[in-house]
Amino acid sequence: MIDAGIAIERTEVLGLKESDLFEIHDLRSRAADFFTETGDPPPTPESLQADLDDLPDGYSRADEVMYRAYLDDRLTGYAEVLRGFAHERQWIIGILLVDPALRGRAVGRAVVEAVADDARAAGMESVAVGVISTRERSLAFWVREGFTTEVSRRPIVIEGLEAEVVRLERHLAETV
Ligand SMILES: CC(C)(COP(=O)(O)OP(=O)(O)OC[C@H]1O[C@@H](n2cnc3c(N)ncnc32)[C@H](O)[C@@H]1OP(=O)(O)O)[C@@H](O)C(=O)NCCC(=O)NCCS
Repeated sequence: MIDAGIAIERTEVLGLKESDLFEIHDLRSRAADFFTETGDPPPTPESLQADLDDLPDGYSRADEVMYRAYLDDRLTGYAEVLRGFAHERQWIIGILLVDPALRGRAVGRAVVEAVADDARAAGMESVAVGVISTRERSLAFWVREGFTTEVSRRPIVIEGLEAEVVRLERHLAETV
């Protein structure tokens, strides 16, 4: 069940203000564990900008939406979503991150449900995500959230160790 104290806000990435970006960077700094685990340097304001610009050819910030989750009015989680990726009727979640101090309280679930609801309302067939195969708790989260169709795997090396990025899809007609 999703905590009634969680509020979800959606903002076009082009509509984000400096203060929004600062707030998101602050959350990323609190969740620096994730960047270490995925072999990335510690988050900075510049790396947030770089992540927002790290898009496949043909896409721009105009195709991205930021989802922010507030628990008791504090930014607790966020997701970057790219509309129309892989095929026209799919959105993809590029990153989903929750404050480590507040994990396990269904903030992640609330964000995913908001993305799925919006994608369904926009006529999408599916939502996708790329998950690193060695991150077992993260994988378990996505499978539990209905991302049960594996569509591809590509190799990745993290800190000298071989892993894979597994692309999973959730079909929106199905209920979880
Ligand atoms: C994965 C993540 C977004 C889930 O958010 P959340 O708000 O804790 O999720 P929920 O409360 O809805 O669900 C909890 C489940 O998330 C998963 N989870 C993954 N990592 C976790 C962590 N460090 N702490 C708690 N739960 C975690 C587990 O499956 C957990 O279920 P369990 O308690 O039965 O093991 C969050 O743990 C996170 O930010 N992790 C680091 C970043 C990441 O892996 N993002 C996804 C890849 S882009």
